[in-house]
Amino acid sequence: MSAPLIDSFGRRHNNLRISVTDRCNIRCFYCMPATDVVFMDRKELLSFEEIEQFVRLMVPLGVDKLRLTGGEPLVRRDLHVLVERLAAIEGIRDIGLTTNGILLADQAQKLYDAGLRRINISLDALSPEKFKEITRREGFEQVIEGIHAAKAAGFNPVKVNAVSIRNMTEDEIVPFGHFARETGAEVRFIEFMPLDADAKWQRDKVLFAGEIIEILAREIMPLVPVAEQPAGAPASDFMFEDGVGRVGFIASVSQPFCASCNRFRLTADGRLRNCLFSLDETDIRSLLREGAADEAIVEAVRASIGAKKEGHEINTARFIQPDRPMYSIGG
Ligand code: 5AD
Ligand code: SF4
Repeated sequence: MSAPLIDSFGRRHNNLRISVTDRCNIRCFYCMPATDVVFMDRKELLSFEEIEQFVRLMVPLGVDKLRLTGGEPLVRRDLHVLVERLAAIEGIRDIGLTTNGILLADQAQKLYDAGLRRINISLDALSPEKFKEITRREGFEQVIEGIHAAKAAGFNPVKVNAVSIRNMTEDEIVPFGHFARETGAEVRFIEFMPLDADAKWQRDKVLFAGEIIEILAREIMPLVPVAEQPAGAPASDFMFEDGVGRVGFIASVSQPFCASCNRFRLTADGRLRNCLFSLDETDIRSLLREGAADEAIVEAVRASIGAKKEGHEINTARFIQPDRPMYSIGG
């Protein structure tokens, strides 16, 4: 095998997140602007062939885990065909998808049959009104249907991602705790990060993991950490003390997990990013479209990983928010 993708801090990168579109059917305020979103042109997007070609080059470097993201990945036509092609690559042992769930009820079975096994559904509120306030669109019922369809199709685990925002999602915490206990879905609370298109993020708008843990303990029952946690996983997982219901926390702001990061990202327009927060990117699409030699593409990836910074600097005055908001990077 060629040398693995190890950066200058010793982190091995086996986990590639691939955005398949920047389009989305809702408008979460922490990600997209409310109006006048400028989307990429169709021809700017990597084709399924180009994505497959790139992934095949990454497997010998140790990439064995993929996640498809967006925008909203299910608005990309025939996504299950891409899943099938990626699942057929020898050496890929795990493919996940992060979706807002709106189109999932229709596609869950097709995706499962294509080889997808892990699914994360973004849902920030169990109250339809709060859902609408955050996403600026209708669709709550469809997401709930999507969650049930995912379970029925055989996905296990089904994870629900809930962004935690101060003065907005406090009332959702306890309902989500009960939801986790009743449905068996793992609810993962994600601290609001500075990736919003409007650049209005402020630290005091983050509802911290520690506070949520306290509220769940007080209002439902104490949580105990789950013993087995995969290396490099950003979430810390807990169970309620009686063993019923799992919740996780992605505490990107209060407890950054950069030191164990194993991921890098390919945007829908074929730019490689070594971090969500990186300020520069590598143009893989041009290399692919110019017919560059495999070695040249691999070298470009190595250079990107080699230049990865130690961590994001959200908690410092030096922090600079990237130009690309979340929908354009891919979650
Ligand atoms: N902060 C935290 N999480 C975010 N997501 C999107 N934007 C942000 C943000 N600014 C979440 C989505 C989805 C995942 C890809 O990232 O809700 O669950
Ligand atoms: Fe769409 Fe995801 Fe951005 Fe929400 S966070 S607007 S679901 S791309």
